[in-house]
Amino acid sequence: MSTLIHNIGELVTNEPELGEGPLGLLRDAALVIEDGQVAWVGPASAAPAADESHDAGGRAALPGFVDSHAHLVFAGERAEEFAARMSGQPYKAGGIRTTVARTREASDDELRANVRRLVDEMARQGTTTVECKSGYGLTVDQEERAVRIAGEFADEVTFLGAHVVPSEYGDDTQGYVRLVSGEMMAACAPHARWVDAFCERGAFDADQTREVLEAGIKAGLTPRLHANQLGHGPGVRLAVELGAAAADHCTFLSDDDVAALADSETVATLLPGVEFSTRQPYPDARRLIDAGATVALATDCNPGSCYSSSMAFCIAVGVRDMKLTPAEAVWSATAGGAKALRRTDVGHLAVGARGDVLVLDAPSYIHLAYRPGVPQVAAVFKAGHRV
Ligand code: NIG
Ligand code: FE
Repeated sequence: MSTLIHNIGELVTNEPELGEGPLGLLRDAALVIEDGQVAWVGPASAAPAADESHDAGGRAALPGFVDSHAHLVFAGERAEEFAARMSGQPYKAGGIRTTVARTREASDDELRANVRRLVDEMARQGTTTVECKSGYGLTVDQEERAVRIAGEFADEVTFLGAHVVPSEYGDDTQGYVRLVSGEMMAACAPHARWVDAFCERGAFDADQTREVLEAGIKAGLTPRLHANQLGHGPGVRLAVELGAAAADHCTFLSDDDVAALADSETVATLLPGVEFSTRQPYPDARRLIDAGATVALATDCNPGSCYSSSMAFCIAVGVRDMKLTPAEAVWSATAGGAKALRRTDVGHLAVGARGDVLVLDAPSYIHLAYRPGVPQVAAVFKAGHRV
């Protein structure tokens, strides 16, 4: 089964050898997807025939968004907490426990329906690769259920038992860290590829984070980390030291943190929806890129710090408030996300890549930042199938 997408006015390939600039831009392009993979890409005039064809009408197309950071396995919502923040309350990690209580009461089917709803919502907006974390169960059985359900819908699954210390542990953070690193890790690791922790004052300190991530590595998982979200701290440097695929948030960075990221393979994943929804300062993407670090953009979609699933929104804010150029923001939301997930099959459109294509209802990718808040999805293909 092959699909030809033709009459693409501007195609972002993220392959500098295929086209102009770092985005590998092609004008008047076409693309053939066969058995789920890109089989041909080039000038529209030379396009081969296919079983089906889709006329992009001269619009722009790009790789589907890669959302490398989301928390979708939860029940309930926290609109009141958001409203309180907007009238001056600070964001506190403890709000996570409200969602933990609600999630523990939910049936498997209620959780499944929530994840499905959000993954569908993402797909309609052009996101074709989704990472999903556990972290609202915080018991062995509840976390095992969360990673299992995440795996039914998401491309990438992350075990985040070390999200916060659940209230039944009181002050016994060390006792909870032992549970996460031991019995909970054993139950969850078979269902996940990644291990994550919330390294922050009020959640887990450097030693506790290290214990969890090292247990994850022993269990065959690769680390990624919530780091430097609410203040300066050891998270980013620990992520780099342990070879994490990504350090996420990176809102408060010292010069040493920036240098460590620039010198490493660890991607700095910025989550602008969080700063928007918590009234925190935005991370400085320009400083990271100028230092030589790799930057990804992701939503962090969750009921607390950012209940948005829109990658286009992240791009617009990344450009407006984090000093990314439109080209850098689009790269970070596609190829950058793929790097943060160590995936070579998504985030770009070369022969052999997965046939994930977002056709915009706009003549250029720049419109993603230029027309914030405007729905601009004309068509989405995931592995060649129209979403
Ligand atoms: O990435 N920082 C920790 N975890 C989430 C927030 C989760 C919540 O508030 O429910 C985050 O921002
Ligand atoms: Fe998060």
